[in-house]
Amino acid sequence: MENTEYEIRPAKLSRAAELAELDRLCFSVPWSLQSFCDELQNPLAVYLVAEKDGRLIGYCGFWSVAGEGQITNICTHPLYRRKGVARALLKEAFRRAAKEKLSLMTLEVRRSNLAARNLYEEFGFSVIGERKRYYSDNGEDAVIMTVYFEDRSR
Ligand SMILES: CC(C)(COP(=O)(O)OP(=O)(O)OC[C@H]1O[C@@H](n2cnc3c(N)ncnc32)[C@H](O)[C@@H]1OP(=O)(O)O)[C@@H](O)C(=O)NCCC(=O)NCCS
Repeated sequence: MENTEYEIRPAKLSRAAELAELDRLCFSVPWSLQSFCDELQNPLAVYLVAEKDGRLIGYCGFWSVAGEGQITNICTHPLYRRKGVARALLKEAFRRAAKEKLSLMTLEVRRSNLAARNLYEEFGFSVIGERKRYYSDNGEDAVIMTVYFEDRSR
């Protein structure tokens, strides 16, 4: 179900501290404030936020390099999950990827992260490989998921 109670918009550098706070709520190994400051100034990166009543409730980022997209992160505040926030963020990321004529979108996800894997499958991602013991906190494997877009040059 689409939710109209929040807005999806590009992230601004002024929101870096709020993004870092949200990340701490969502990940066992969150990014630092400095990482967000760097990423929000990275010309190859696109960061989108979901905002409700002035509060950030989710974000999604991707890099656009050599015609390919790489999702760096996506999360939704625990109190706002299963309301379509991540779906709305990914939808907008895909809209932008189409505008940039990217040939594919790829990402790494923890093998056990079924919530995220279900979400990605909904967008056409499928498993194309793995990275053994990729995550340093618990040695968990990463699964590489990719969706290939049609040749947009024709
Ligand atoms: C994964 C995550 C981003 C999903 O965010 P969300 O806003 O709750 O997701 P949505 O409501 O848009 O869900 C879209 C679909 O994803 C799947 N999904 C989401 N959460 C799920 C869950 N807990 N269990 C199973 N499937 C789930 C479902 O298919 C869902 O569709 P449905 O609700 O109609 O069944 C969120 O759980 C999160 O922030 N997790 C922690 C951070 C994380 O692991 N990020 C991914 C890093 S690779």
